[in-house]
Amino acid sequence: MFKIAVAGTGYVGLVAGVCFAEVGHQVTCVDIDENKVKLMKSGVSPIFEAGLEELMQKNYAVRRIDYTTDYKAAYKDADAIFIGVGTPEQPDGSANLSYIATVARQIAETIEKDCLVVVKSTVPVGTNDKVEQFIHDFLVHNVRVEVASNPEFLAQGSAVHDTLHAERIIIGTESKWAEEQLMKIYELFGLPIVSVNRRSAEMIKYASNDFLALKISYMNDIANLCELVGANIHDVAKGMSFDERIGSKFLNAGIGFGGSCFPKDTKALEYIARQHGYELRTVKAAIDVNNDQKTMLYKKASKRLITFNGLKVAILGLTFKPGTDDLREAASLDNVPLLLEQGADIFAYDPIGAANFAKVYPEGGNSKGRMTYVANIEDALRGANVCFIFTEWGEVKAVSPETYKNFMRTPLVYDGRNIYRVEEMRKAGVEYHSIGRESARREDIKESKNLELQTSRS
Ligand code: UDX
Repeated sequence: MFKIAVAGTGYVGLVAGVCFAEVGHQVTCVDIDENKVKLMKSGVSPIFEAGLEELMQKNYAVRRIDYTTDYKAAYKDADAIFIGVGTPEQPDGSANLSYIATVARQIAETIEKDCLVVVKSTVPVGTNDKVEQFIHDFLVHNVRVEVASNPEFLAQGSAVHDTLHAERIIIGTESKWAEEQLMKIYELFGLPIVSVNRRSAEMIKYASNDFLALKISYMNDIANLCELVGANIHDVAKGMSFDERIGSKFLNAGIGFGGSCFPKDTKALEYIARQHGYELRTVKAAIDVNNDQKTMLYKKASKRLITFNGLKVAILGLTFKPGTDDLREAASLDNVPLLLEQGADIFAYDPIGAANFAKVYPEGGNSKGRMTYVANIEDALRGANVCFIFTEWGEVKAVSPETYKNFMRTPLVYDGRNIYRVEEMRKAGVEYHSIGRESARREDIKESKNLELQTSRS
């Protein structure tokens, strides 16, 4: 059992802390926000993450985890300190490392015994060397301190599961001692551990995330071509997926990737490459495709409708993916301002992300349009002229094609998540546009209705 302190209680820090406690370590999570600490002590998670609160409450009850703003008390006699603070993207695409620097300095000035400092935050290659130097520069007591890299691969919405059942744990160390310490900490998880040097560990994180981002952008690129040549991206992906070298995951075309990692990490690696005088063309292409993809449906709809001015626009899903209330880099954030600027009357539904979205676009008049947040899907669809689907929530997937037909004023749907089969929408009389597939066009619907009429008459 290790005495572990975790700096930062965002997705990375809090989930890591709770999971360390769950496998038996003694954990203290540190955050600068008093209210957040109070909330966590009362068993409430500041982030929405399946299974997290249960584990917080369970481990707090047996005193295996605690939360504090008092970093000195948490760090001074810790065996290991995990840094999970944010590294937000700066306007030029580089990572802002100021939070890491603050924590590193606090650690240096506080620790009173030998300690392994583990950086979980995603940081540019070489940062951990600098963090170690920085800590040594400010170190107050004569203790052994080393820095290790331990990138995090959890996905939001399944963070606890991803941590407790990770496919691999990457540890990057520069000494036997650091490697052994980290091995012992992770032994209790019983998962495969890949031990490499620090810079490789830092690179594995970027290379993995950017590869997945590339995979998505590639499928979106192919999807756009599918539409032009009359192929179906769903079938194409299915055919590709049987090749084990390609794999079946992350082949879903849609309105682009969002979230806290892919957009940030693609730009960061591209920036790192540029700093070294190298042009990372593949990653650059993934970024470009993604930027265009996010407003693909808006562009399609703009061509089909003369204007959005005064139209009732239903939006189903605001978050960057289901299972989270996180809006970071969500496609909704690219599309809503365009619609509002055109004077759209938006009725938005999201099971848990609406409150966060309302902080950016409050209920009522916004720009030339209006925002209304509704608690159920029918209220969003009732009387709508057009509907956009941005997130494939279970609740959204459960909506039948007939519901669009029955509730909307004109059943015109732009689906960024390819939830429906084109044929079922056509049959239900819904004009349907999605990504990488033929559309159920108004003419088709009329034709199929006429055909039905003729068949029923004859
Ligand atoms: C991702 C990685 O999965 C995780 O390993 C890493 O640590 C952090 O970044 P996350 O951002 O939480 O996790 O979500 P993820 O499920 O990977 O989805 C990211 C974005 O890609 C979402 O907007 C999602 O809708 C999109 N996506 C994903 C697709 O468009 N198509 C796919 O096939 C898969």
